Amino acid sequence: MRRELTERFSFTCPVCTWERGEPAPLELLVEREIDGDILSGHFRCPACPRRYPVIEGVAVLDPEPIRTSYDRPDLLQAYLWTHYADLSPELAGEEGGIRGNYFPEIAAQPVRGVVLDLGCNVGRTTFDLAGRAGFVLGIERSFETVKRAREIARSGRVAFHLKDEGDRGRYVDLDATGVVRENVEFVCGDAGALPLPPGVADAVLAANLLDRVRDPRLFLDRASRALRAEGLLLLTVPFTWREEFSPRERWLCEAERDGRRILLDWCEDHGFAAEEVTDLTLTIRNHKRFYELLRPVLVRARKSA
Ligand SMILES: C[S@@+](CC[C@H](N)C(=O)[O-])C[C@H]1O[C@@H](n2cnc3c(N)ncnc32)[C@H](O)[C@@H]1O
Repeated sequence: MRRELTERFSFTCPVCTWERGEPAPLELLVEREIDGDILSGHFRCPACPRRYPVIEGVAVLDPEPIRTSYDRPDLLQAYLWTHYADLSPELAGEEGGIRGNYFPEIAAQPVRGVVLDLGCNVGRTTFDLAGRAGFVLGIERSFETVKRAREIARSGRVAFHLKDEGDRGRYVDLDATGVVRENVEFVCGDAGALPLPPGVADAVLAANLLDRVRDPRLFLDRASRALRAEGLLLLTVPFTWREEFSPRERWLCEAERDGRRILLDWCEDHGFAAEEVTDLTLTIRNHKRFYELLRPVLVRARKSA
């Protein structure tokens, strides 16, 4: 975690901020730092007994850190391809040209100032939004993906083992210097209990996250409170509900209304004006002969003044 991050943001205890409604600024104790990058140490909350470690340069600001399927090597290589295959004409052409408009459409969103990219995985949207924003902070639950996103930011390279079929595969090493930006950082955290006080962000992106959190309505409520007045809420949602992530009774899916309608009604009921509603296309590569085609809806909504 770069030291300048603590000068830019006043991190607060996620539990005191969102459960007790009393944002307590965290105190940082550094154990090892090289060239302004804090590699180990911990944050401590002055108001409760909680401590949040910095491990291998990753600040783990999640009150309940868990390993999920997104930490697994097979999903990590799938997302590295999905986020960065366009850097190699050879890789990008393999699926027959159905890569989709997901990343270009997100990159074109009119953000400015401080942006939070929640559930950023290996960081492509974080870097892309940094082209327009002042600073983008990626907050992600999977430690392995945060570690990888930080490596990409520091090295300007995306190197990994790409699965072809079964145990067969190849090593790829892509030049990402055209994509990587300085004005980003990545931390581990829970998008439903952010380590930041309300009202810090000019824009919040949650790309394909809503159907992966335990309580989607609670998440929407807290994400919207993280925004300043007139801030932008950017959601992409493929509505792929699974009980392993969200209990069925919390799915945004009703007999009378589909997820897109429920989202738009939520915006109206919570003082957000929808500015754009578009269907996107995204390809996720499992292996050389198995791609998934997703059709998430993108909703861009502005918080009232
Ligand atoms: C479907 S992936 C989408 C990744 C990326 N945003 C994209 O569009 O390619 C969902 C991501 O959200 C992360 N995630 C799930 N629950 C989370 C939570 N409560 N807080 C932060 N990240 C979370 C997962 O680890 C995973 O990286």
